[in-house]
Amino acid sequence: MMLTPYSYNIFRGTINVNRRNISSIVWKDLFLEYIVKNIKNNTNYKRILGPPAEEVVKEVDLAGKTCLITGASGSIGSEITRCLSLRDCKILMACRNVYKAKLVTKNICEKSHLTFYQVNLASLASVKTCAENILVNEKKVDIVILNAATFGLPWTLTEDRLETIFQVNFLSQYYLLMCLGKILTSDVRVVFTSSESHRHINWPLSPTLEDISLPKDRYTSIKSYNISKLCGLSLMHYLSYQWSDTRKSVFCAHPGSFIKTGLCKNWWAYEALYILMIPFSKSITQGASTIVYCATSPELKGTTAVYLNNCKRCDESEVAKDINMSFKIHDLVLEILRDRVDNFDILYKDFRSLKI
Ligand SMILES: NC(=O)c1ccc[n+]([C@@H]2O[C@H](COP(=O)([O-])OP(=O)(O)OC[C@H]3O[C@@H](n4cnc5c(N)ncnc54)[C@H](OP(=O)(O)O)[C@@H]3O)[C@@H](O)[C@H]2O)c1
Repeated sequence: MMLTPYSYNIFRGTINVNRRNISSIVWKDLFLEYIVKNIKNNTNYKRILGPPAEEVVKEVDLAGKTCLITGASGSIGSEITRCLSLRDCKILMACRNVYKAKLVTKNICEKSHLTFYQVNLASLASVKTCAENILVNEKKVDIVILNAATFGLPWTLTEDRLETIFQVNFLSQYYLLMCLGKILTSDVRVVFTSSESHRHINWPLSPTLEDISLPKDRYTSIKSYNISKLCGLSLMHYLSYQWSDTRKSVFCAHPGSFIKTGLCKNWWAYEALYILMIPFSKSITQGASTIVYCATSPELKGTTAVYLNNCKRCDESEVAKDINMSFKIHDLVLEILRDRVDNFDILYKDFRSLKI
């Protein structure tokens, strides 16, 4: 009876392994494996937790389409990339680590469908450079999937003097979208990878910078993560309003909860929790399915401002769908960017006037 190296690593950091407790670790490890195996084998796991992403896109032809995706080197991001490239979609992978992205996609995607762009979402300057490179090389973008995220970090400020999770998960990705305004097609679909956890946040009547980019004394990484996801939902409503007389559409998709991905890597306790949740949570490919559904499904044609979970419409929290609040959050976001980006008003004017 052996510990798998993986689970041994997890426990090694947290338990002082000695002869007495090693048998209980082995026991827990085997018990966990037993549960996972049995649930996966003996029940129709696929039906309970939803279809794999590949099945969701199997009828869709994406030849000639271009999709930009952030966080494409991550677990759900690379699965989305694989499924869309199977349908002949050209994928622009905006990744922090291009080397990792190439490794991750090496054997699963056709190389001819992939183009890599380096971006560090913790830096507005890096986002700008990435957008400039995309504008030089690409003529159009039909689908934008804003999927990158981080979680479980201690409080840090970015070089732009913003709390890191807020900037990476939300602000920089909206800024990237704005920078690419010129090449978004007239029926572009924008998908924010969201989370059910947005429900835990309620903003004051008039939120300030400190309510979305948390100062150290108000910070927990969960709170900041939830705020970033609520910002995405709020922005979905704002953009849908702004684009109401166009064919552009915006969706938010919840992939599923506690999917064991790189998201929990920053703290062992989260990693342990996500491992324990494996029997009850979606696989990575099931996690990608609602996002690819939003990005490609013909059933969603002509709709916008929809939050989806399990490939179905879902009611977001009251604050998320409050259109007045989405205007306030949007104003705040513009203020933050105006303070940090040169000639921001010229960029925003172009983005705002995207009507066709
Ligand atoms: N897993 C879940 O249970 C769950 C639940 C609800 C929602 N979600 C959402 O699903 C999406 C995908 O997450 P995942 O679970 O697949 O996690 P993941 O494996 O950690 O992927 C996250 C991706 O974001 C990228 N990223 C992080 N910081 C970045 C930065 N500063 N600049 C550029 N890229 C950065 C990562 O790049 P590196 O590879 O360089 O780190 C990675 O590609 C996220 O939006 C997450 O919030 C996940």
